[in-house]
Amino acid sequence: MEDGRQRAWAAAGEAAAARIEDGMRVGLGTGRAAAAGIRALGLRVAGGLRCTGVPTSRASAALARELGIPLGRMGPPLDLAFDGADAVDPGGLVIKGAGGAMVRERIVADAAALFLVLVDGPKVVPRLDAWGVLPVAVVPFGAARVLGELADVGAVRRPGLNDDGLVILDLQVPAGADWVALAERVDGLAGVVDHGLFRVPLANVLVGAPDGGCAPAG
Ligand code: A5P
Repeated sequence: MEDGRQRAWAAAGEAAAARIEDGMRVGLGTGRAAAAGIRALGLRVAGGLRCTGVPTSRASAALARELGIPLGRMGPPLDLAFDGADAVDPGGLVIKGAGGAMVRERIVADAAALFLVLVDGPKVVPRLDAWGVLPVAVVPFGAARVLGELADVGAVRRPGLNDDGLVILDLQVPAGADWVALAERVDGLAGVVDHGLFRVPLANVLVGAPDGGCAPAG
């Protein structure tokens, strides 16, 4: 099962890497599918492609370095970014942040002319309830207060801090909840930096398959 999923993420990663052109600045996401994309990009760089990667986590930076992908900082716009996701619904709502990197991931997605989301079939769900978790990044000073404010939606604090020194709270979102309204409520709380709800055109969601195929979600 896990091998099949790895092959599917690899297919999506290869499809994303194939869209990178010489000289591009590229946002590098975080997680298993993004790592597959970074590995596919590494092969292209080894073959002579010139590009600059802007990683969204220490882990992605380390992998890119290992593969010889030159790295740069956020600043000038990005031509393309690719990243994984935890769930995608038919309206293009996307949940991210199981790896706690969604603050940088949104910055990179926002900066990119084209943002590609790499998933496999099981992550394309009829409703986000099938995943059920909304991660929220909070400044440590405010974490206990935000935890209390979000107790009614099952907020649980993850141990440790993310790469940016932020606390991650996971909301156990009740079935039938309005995810967009919940994300707006979360955005309004003092101390919250960001959350994991994104909106992405389905044409930019690449769904890999275990047989090596890959197609947009819509
Ligand atoms: C990292 O914070 C996340 O947004 C990941 O991109 C997301 O959780 C998907 O990760 P996998 O590709 O490892 O499932």
